Amino acid sequence: MGFNSNLILESPELETPELETFELEISESPKPPLTLETFKPPSTLDPATVLSDNIPTDYIPIATPNLCGNEAKYLMECVQTNFVSTVGPFVKKFEQELCAVTKANYAVPTCSGTSALHLSLKAVGVKENELVIIPSFTFIATANAIRYCGSDPWIFDISEKDWGLDPELLEKTLLEQTLLEQTVLKQPVLKQTVLKQTADKTLLDKPPLTESEFSQKTLIHIQSGKRVAAIILVCTLGIPPSINEILDVAKKFNIPVILDAAGAIGAKYHGKELGELDIPCTVLSFNGNKLITSGGGGCILFKDADLANRIRHLSTTARRATGYLHDEVGYNYRMTNIAAAVGCAQLENLELFLKQKKFIASKYNQLQTKFKSLNIFPNAKENTPNFWLSGFILPNPNLVNEFIEFMRSFGINAQKFWIPIHKQPPYVNSYCTKQDYVESIYKNIVILPCSSHLTEKQLDSIISVVTDGLIKLNVK
Ligand SMILES: Cc1ncc(COP(=O)(O)O)c(C=O)c1O
Repeated sequence: MGFNSNLILESPELETPELETFELEISESPKPPLTLETFKPPSTLDPATVLSDNIPTDYIPIATPNLCGNEAKYLMECVQTNFVSTVGPFVKKFEQELCAVTKANYAVPTCSGTSALHLSLKAVGVKENELVIIPSFTFIATANAIRYCGSDPWIFDISEKDWGLDPELLEKTLLEQTLLEQTVLKQPVLKQTVLKQTADKTLLDKPPLTESEFSQKTLIHIQSGKRVAAIILVCTLGIPPSINEILDVAKKFNIPVILDAAGAIGAKYHGKELGELDIPCTVLSFNGNKLITSGGGGCILFKDADLANRIRHLSTTARRATGYLHDEVGYNYRMTNIAAAVGCAQLENLELFLKQKKFIASKYNQLQTKFKSLNIFPNAKENTPNFWLSGFILPNPNLVNEFIEFMRSFGINAQKFWIPIHKQPPYVNSYCTKQDYVESIYKNIVILPCSSHLTEKQLDSIISVVTDGLIKLNVK
């Protein structure tokens, strides 16, 4: 079943591991859409059994693939033509269609969003022993990709407005804790050397530098002496962060920006598609729980042809032409034709899925009119989220476990969301800002079923169980 229920039941304080849950949900996907009509009455369904191997057939998961289009047809084409591996026409087609949908100049498909992040960091020049700024509220892959480069995340609190990196906090912290260095310093820089130079911290206030002087400047984190090599922005829940404001700050400090839009395909920022933004690398994931899946996979969107070519080369083992000469250490991060075939079929239904996800979110958001103490997910004016995941914020974290158990007792999955990166064992010692805002919300978040193939009737039934649960918990 790919779901170690015992582990979860024996460790109640651990959040449901995302990956394992999604494995479960994907394995359920070939079944026809689930109905609530066949729900067992709560008295016969012990919440524990919902998590066990004995999963009820009418279990409603959080987000499963919607394979309602040409997926089977295109997969059959792969088998019939024998193109099942990393070469084949669907890879090129997927790439072209991703460019069309996102308005990117170039797209390089990969085997996962995580590998796309790793390559993006390479693309913008992240090396060993450096720092990369990330928001605390993201999936662990954002931080892991930095470690794959031999560097460390510098973890920033998020803003209330969009749950992304907070531009004001970013600027203030960079002003206080970094130094723009004239020369490219050897790594690691001695802390004392850098500290001595803080006297020259007024560099930013000096007459403007010429462009070439500025581009040679390296941003140094004073305390560690490490170069601040990049910023990764994240579209939490498919919501674009404050991109323009952050790009302004990033320009001032000469730091390249990557957008981790893993779950955000179809989202827009100020009316622009993700590939139109002034960002060198934007990452998408097509993991099974995303709005569009390719089974597993990812891609990087590029503006610049040279950068796209370089990263495509790196993603295909840095192999020269067709021989066995590899001109640097590359990666086997290619997408397969099978994955791309599924991705192509999914993209044909993108508009439909976006509409359905928006509808689902709007239905859950209506609960706020009845339960005033519930908060809905952020939705800033300039953003068009893709409503990848839906749910709400409970007024009190102590209610969350009981609410989730209640939902599961009816065979409806509800889940907690990401645990912030500074709380994750591999990153507890990483540099990080104060985390007041993320700490105030992350334990209160509940994610509810939001597969794009849920019917309106199913959704109404889920909402009626949610309503009963909130009343039972005395949520006002
Ligand atoms: C924000 C974020 N970044 C990166 C990833 C990693 O993508 P993948 O699972 O395709 O490696 C995910 C996956 O959920 C994600 O949500």
